[in-house]
Amino acid sequence: MKSDEILSVGPFYAPSYASMERDFTVHKLWQAKDPAALVKEVSGRMRALQTSGSYGADAKLMDALPKLEIISNFGVGVDSVDLEAARQRGVIVTNTPDVLNECVADLAMGLTIATMRRISLGDRFVRAGSWLKGALPLAQKVGGRTMGILGYGRIGKAIAKRAEAFGMHIAYHGRTPQAGVSYKFYPKLVDMARDCDVLMVICPGGAATHHIVNAEVLAALGPEGTLINVARGSVVDEAALVKALADGKLGAAGLDVFEDEPRVPEALFALDQVVLQPHVGSATNETRKAMGDLTVDNLRAHFAGKPVLTPVGPA
Ligand code: NAP
Ligand code: 8YV
Repeated sequence: MKSDEILSVGPFYAPSYASMERDFTVHKLWQAKDPAALVKEVSGRMRALQTSGSYGADAKLMDALPKLEIISNFGVGVDSVDLEAARQRGVIVTNTPDVLNECVADLAMGLTIATMRRISLGDRFVRAGSWLKGALPLAQKVGGRTMGILGYGRIGKAIAKRAEAFGMHIAYHGRTPQAGVSYKFYPKLVDMARDCDVLMVICPGGAATHHIVNAEVLAALGPEGTLINVARGSVVDEAALVKALADGKLGAAGLDVFEDEPRVPEALFALDQVVLQPHVGSATNETRKAMGDLTVDNLRAHFAGKPVLTPVGPA
C-alpha cells in the first residue's frame, strides 16, 4: 500500500487513472457499496480528493474530511465544486485549463456549421431515402454572419479564431471589456443577442450565470438566430429554449450541454433545427489524456511539497 492516499469521487480517462493508482493508494467512492462508510473509514487521514465535473465536491463531503488539503478536478469547469467551502477550509482546488481549448473550440465551430448548414438533418434525409423525392430545403451561409461570444476566455478566444477563419464577424460579452481586444464589447447580453446571428455560450456555469440566457435573450436572438451552447446547461433557461424553438421565436440550436445531464428534454428530439451532442467538447483521446495527466500531476506536485500546476483562482 502506497502511503499517499487519494479519495476518488469519480472516474476519468482510464490510462491516467491507472497512473494515479500506480503512484497512490486510491479509494474509489464511485465503486463503494457503502460510500458513507468509506468516507468515515478514511476521514481521519485523507488529504486529497479527486473529482470531475459530473461528480463535484460539496461542503458536506469537505466537512467529513477534516485533513483535506487539495481537490483535483478533471475538467476546467469547477461549478460542481463548492469553491467558497474550499476557500473557507483552506483547501486548494485545481482544474485542467488550456489543454482542452482546441478540442472544445473545434466542437463549438463544428456545431455552428452543422446547425447552420443542417448537416445532421441532411444525413437523416439521405438515410431515410427522402433525397429520392426531392431536395433538402436551403440552409444559412456561415461566412459574413456575426458570432456573439458569451465568455471570451481561453476557449472563447480559440472559437473566435476559428469563426474568423470561416469569415464570421466577432463580438463578445463578459463582466468587463478586455484590454487590447478589438472586437465590439457588449455590456448587456440582450443587446449582443439582438445584434448577432449566432450566440456562442462558453462562460462558466454556477450561480452567477444561472439562466442568463433567458426568454428575453432568446427572443432578441430571434427567428433567424442560432444558439450554440458548449458551456453548461445551467447557463440557458432550457424550458424557455424549448418553447422559443417550438414557437419559431428562435431559429436553431446546437447543444453539447443540458440542465440535467444525461437527461435531455424529449421535445428537442422532434425538432429538425436542433443538433444535439452528449457533452463531448473535450472528448478526444489526446485531450482527455492531457486533462487526465494534469489532474494527476497536480496531486503529485502537492504530495511532493511543490506548488500545484493549475490552481483555480478567485472568480
Ligand atoms: P475562462 O478562460 O475562465 O473564460 C470564461 C469567460 O467567461 C471569461 O471571458 C469571463 O469574462 C466570462 N465570464 C465569467 N463570468 C461571467 C459572468 N458572470 N457573466 C458573463 N461572462 C462571464 O474559461 P474557459 O477555460 O474558457 O472555460 C469556460 C467554460 O466552458 C468552463 O467553465 C466550462 O463550464 C465550459 N466547458 C465545457 C466543455 C464541454 O465539454 N462542453 C469543455 C470545457 C469547458 P469576464 O471575467 O470578463 O466576465
Ligand atoms: C469534461 C468539461 O468532459 O472541462 C470541462 O469543464 O465540461 C469537460 O471537459 C467534464 O468536466 C468531465 O466531467
